[in-house]
Amino acid sequence: MPPQLDLRRDEDMEYLYIPARQEENVSIEAGQRAGFLAVDPSLLSVKIACDFPIYVYVSTASRFVLLKAENLPITRKQLQQVQSGGRRPFFVPQDFAGSLKALAAQNLRALASNTDMDPATRSRQTYAISKALLAGVFTPDADRRRVEEASRCVGDALTDLIGTGREALRHLILAESHDPGIYTHSLNICVLGTALVHYLHPERPREHLQDLAQGFLLHDIGKIDIPWEIWTKPDKLTESERELVQKHPLYGFQRIEKFERISEEARRIVLHHHEHCDGTGYPFGLSAEEISEAARICAIIEPFDDLTSDRPYHKRVTVFQALQTMKEEGMQRYDFDLYKAFLHFFRDVSNPGH
Ligand SMILES: [Fe+2]
Ligand SMILES: [Fe+2]
Repeated sequence: MPPQLDLRRDEDMEYLYIPARQEENVSIEAGQRAGFLAVDPSLLSVKIACDFPIYVYVSTASRFVLLKAENLPITRKQLQQVQSGGRRPFFVPQDFAGSLKALAAQNLRALASNTDMDPATRSRQTYAISKALLAGVFTPDADRRRVEEASRCVGDALTDLIGTGREALRHLILAESHDPGIYTHSLNICVLGTALVHYLHPERPREHLQDLAQGFLLHDIGKIDIPWEIWTKPDKLTESERELVQKHPLYGFQRIEKFERISEEARRIVLHHHEHCDGTGYPFGLSAEEISEAARICAIIEPFDDLTSDRPYHKRVTVFQALQTMKEEGMQRYDFDLYKAFLHFFRDVSNPGH
């Protein structure tokens, strides 16, 4: 049974910690049973107010011990205690998930641009927290403000991280998940799209990249207005279902219409990301010169991420196979120069030290 694309999933908090070693899974599982969330120690600093209680796991006694009580500031000594165990997680009761999420959002840009941290951990953690922040956002009853804030926060942080160099970007791409969630797909498109624009135009100001990052992140936001059963259908869609699916760029565009801070280019990514250079795309059947460069980039990385991820209607394939399939299905629909640039970009980024 292939995995389901479930737009309603909100299993976000588990991503505030990614276990690096097997023994950490023991404490995480024990934590889950006891109603605790595992959190990465890099999220804490004495400068940041944390109103939640902090517990640590004592493996010799197999129990959780309170280190800091609720509403008290964390002391330098306590912080040292949490962080002295390498990347061992600390634990917070699940009732404090809201405070934790707020802290993660506040800290995300500082984390993404902290070049004192090794690039692998920094990228993995930035991706994990971004995923956590987006997970509950892409739901049919999503609050406009929440979508706007989360997409800005994540888009800005990913842009910061991409700006810190190729090694961090390489690890960011390695950290990508390829599960069927809509937010992971959005996150991947944001990483690849923003990084490709930066690769093509390194001189562009950070603010411009941040605007595009938000557009890439939100490109599929209109999917939440279509019954989720359609997205999980493993069989061929009926004519009317296909027509509905092809409306998601329009629905997305309508959803972001009232955003206070979103650029024209970001709006065009959302509206035009399924347009093809040969006029065979939707919803308008535009020609190449009518589609912005960022939307043409999105049209290339969209099938790429789709093919390299598990979907109800197919199993993921390798990067090489995905590029090959795209070529076989018809290069005329893509901007060929951008497709070539994407190949070069991918080759450069995949080779450490290149
Ligand atoms: Fe998409
Ligand atoms: Fe789409």
